[in-house]
Amino acid sequence: MSKIAIGSDHVGYELKPIIIEYLKELGHEVTDFGAYSSERTDYPIYGKKVAEEVANHNYDLGILICGTGVGISLSANKVPGIRAVVCSEPYSAKLSKQHNNTNILAFGSRVIGSELAKMIVKEWLDAKFIGGRHQRRIDEMAAIEEKNDKKFESIRVSNNQKYLDK
Ligand code: RB5
Repeated sequence: MSKIAIGSDHVGYELKPIIIEYLKELGHEVTDFGAYSSERTDYPIYGKKVAEEVANHNYDLGILICGTGVGISLSANKVPGIRAVVCSEPYSAKLSKQHNNTNILAFGSRVIGSELAKMIVKEWLDAKFIGGRHQRRIDEMAAIEEKNDKKFESIRVSNNQKYLDK
């Protein structure tokens, strides 16, 4: 059972209750951080809100819905510590957890239907982070975010692969 924060803009508003219901059926605890009506609004509001709740460890995971899933996931990814993925199929959703330890899943209500959305959600929730070599890559991403990635220089220059910033 996970504590899940969910949010959408006005375009994702109608798909959101279907996903909330599904998450509850699966036994998860869900909190809806808006939008609370279909009145036109801006996706960064909800991307930021849900991302902060996850980054602050108030919630285990987040789910975001807009028209494409793009704007709301981009917004969430501006919050340090967030790895939000936008998915339109279950394979990427599963691998994004196993390899990238994504903590927010996004999708688009104009792109996929509710049954495919549920399948994507299920694959993502069931998948577990594998760790190992994947942890180092996540640490590298975090270091970029913290502007402290020089420590990974030796990895960058290995195998004669010089980075452009050399
Ligand atoms: C709103 O019209 C739309 O731009 C939004 O839902 C989303 O698709 C943005 O990425």
